[in-house]
Order: sequence, then structure tokens, then C-alpha cells
Amino acid sequence: MSSLFTPLCTLLQTRLPIIQAPMAGGPTTPELVAAVSNAGALGSLGAGYMTPQAIQESIRAIKRYTNQPFAVNLFIPSQASEAIPDVAPMKQFLLQMSPRHETQGDAASIPAFEDQLAVVIAERVPVFSFTFGQLKPEMVLELQSRGTTVVGTATTVEEAVALATSGVDAIVAQGYEAGGHRGTFLCHVEAALIGTMALIPQIVNQLRIPVIASGGIMDGRGIAASLMLGAAGVQLGTSFLVTEESGAHPVYKQAVLESGASDTVLTSGFSGKAARAIRNRFTDEIREFPGEIPPYPTQNTLTRPLRNWAAEQGDPDYLSLFAGQGAAMGRALPAAELVHQLVEETKASLNRACRLL
Ligand SMILES: Cc1cc2nc3c(=O)[nH]c(=O)nc-3n(C[C@H](O)[C@H](O)[C@H](O)COP(=O)(O)O)c2cc1C
Repeated sequence: MSSLFTPLCTLLQTRLPIIQAPMAGGPTTPELVAAVSNAGALGSLGAGYMTPQAIQESIRAIKRYTNQPFAVNLFIPSQASEAIPDVAPMKQFLLQMSPRHETQGDAASIPAFEDQLAVVIAERVPVFSFTFGQLKPEMVLELQSRGTTVVGTATTVEEAVALATSGVDAIVAQGYEAGGHRGTFLCHVEAALIGTMALIPQIVNQLRIPVIASGGIMDGRGIAASLMLGAAGVQLGTSFLVTEESGAHPVYKQAVLESGASDTVLTSGFSGKAARAIRNRFTDEIREFPGEIPPYPTQNTLTRPLRNWAAEQGDPDYLSLFAGQGAAMGRALPAAELVHQLVEETKASLNRACRLL
């Protein structure tokens, strides 16, 4: 059994300082979460889009598959204005993109955060992580008093300091390279596009709690580099997206594995919130929309029928192929084998660096 111990392991009660990122929308199946946790890392359920009942069922499934710690992740709702934009032009535009799908519904249909969080609290999950904002300090304390470790997501130094002030136990520092949505919440997304290599040491300089590096880390070299930058651990999304237990659509996994280093783009076209995805017809065509893209989560609801239709067809052109800049380094392996390889590579990288001294 390989090990790699840092203070993050003490906090999370894991053998390894490696977190499989929560990935809302299907990739983080209970099987994936449990396989990662059983391998000594921390599996995370991306529950942001799930109903309270589905969250409860998934948590219970994970608990059946593993007795090791795991995380559940939710999206903090934005405080933005409640004004409902005119969605008719976007609906029309999406229909023109692919006339064979039917658009339906213009209401934001993400379950209420409070109801989702109530399940997390009731189920006493070992680790709760969140993105897109801050949790009220009273809520952080409530979770901690029930034995749950709380982890927030920052994309700038200011966000990291604000989260630390709210009392969280650790922070995921999400660099520009990261796949999926930007967690930015204190400034415009354009002002928060800081690469992992520059972001980690600047956040580490300001905080006393463990910092978890995230974005573009695909192998042990990236993990070793993150530790050298002062991170206490790492969170990998794209790397676990292509594992066997991941619920990502097979054509999605294939697109990740066949991608190149310059194939990802930042787009708000899928959900109304900036996210990194592999460039496809959708990301190209949505740039031609003449108006403003409706905000999250409205746009997410509007594009869902098109994405569902694309999934049914196995058509990668209109799927949201969220992935980080390191996507081309993905490996289609069982999750436990990936964890094992990551640890061996990290040790080899650290040894190599020591020999150079
Ligand atoms: C498909 C996908 C979905 C994601 N969904 C979430 C999510 O639900 N919650 C979250 O905190 N982060 C989410 N992320 C971001 C990850 O937590 C992490 O920051 C990112 O994957 C790191 O970059 P990497 O993909 O290059 O490893 C997602 C990432 C991907 C690739």
C-alpha cells in the first residue's frame, strides 16, 4: 500500500492528500466516489443539480460501498437580482442550432439549496465542499459541530481570505486551467483567471488552513509541483472524469482522451456561468448569439433539452464537454488504479527533485 501523508490527510482522515473533484451532472457516481475513497483518497459526490431525495439515495449508496470518508458538494446560490430575462431569443437560437430537439421550460429548475443542505446535515457526511460562493459562518459551525469538515472554493486570494474568515477548514484553490465551472464569486470572472502555479503560493501566503490545489493537475508531476508550491493536497476533476467508474457519457470520455492541449475554451454558453470545456460546435455557435446569454441557472435550464438530446444521440457536438487544460493527459483506468499510479508518480517526482538538490 502506497502512502503520501500531509496535514490534509489528518483533516480529512484519509491516507492520501488527493481528492477526486465533485463533478455535478453525472460523472461522480457513488461507484466512483467509493472506489476513490476505498483507494485511500477522498471521493466527492457532485450533488449541485440533484434533488434532495437523489442526494440522500446517493449518500446511502456510497455508505454501503465504503466505510472511508467521502465528500458531498453543492452550489451556493447567487445573490443576484431575481429579474427573469427574456429567454425567447435564446430559445429560438437554440432551436435553430439543432431543430430536431424541442426546447422546453424557461424556469430555473435547480433544487433549493436549503433542502439539499438539509440532507447533507441529516446524513452527517464526513466532508462537505461547496463552490460559487460562501456559506454563512453559522452554517459552517453547524456542520462542524456535527463532525463534518467544511471546504470552500476560491479562485482569487480575496475569495480565499473571505472563506477562511467564515471559518471553513480548508480551501480548494481553483486555477484558470480547471475543467468545469469557475467558482468565482467576489469579482467578475475575467478578473479571476489566475493560473494554478501563480494562485497557490499567493493563497498559501495568506492562510493558515490547508490549501488544496486544483486545475490542470493530471499526474504525479502536477501533484508534486502543487505540494512544492505549498499546497497540502490536490483536487483532480478531468483526470477522474475518464476513469471506468465515472458516469460521463462514453463519447464525452472519448472526446477528452482524444483532445489536445489547446482544445479547451471558457464559455458561459452552456449554463450562463463561465466554464472550461472542450471546444465543439456548440461552443463555436453560441458565440454568434447576438444578445447577452441569460444568467445561470436560466441558461442551464434552456440548454438542457439540447444537451439531453445530444446525449441520446451520442453526439459530442452539442454536449457540454467540461474538461481542464490537461485533458489530453487523461487515462482510461479503474479509479483505484489511477490513484495508485498518481501516488507512485508523485513519489518518483519528489525523489527526482530531491536528487537535484
Ligand atoms: C465535468 C466537471 C464538473 C465539475 N463540477 C464541479 C462541481 O459540481 N462542483 C465543484 O466544486 N467543482 C466542479 N468542477 C471543478 C472541479 O472541482 C475542479 O476545480 C477542476 O476539475 C480542476 O481542474 P481539472 O479538471 O483540470 O482537474 C467540475 C469539473 C469538471 C471537469
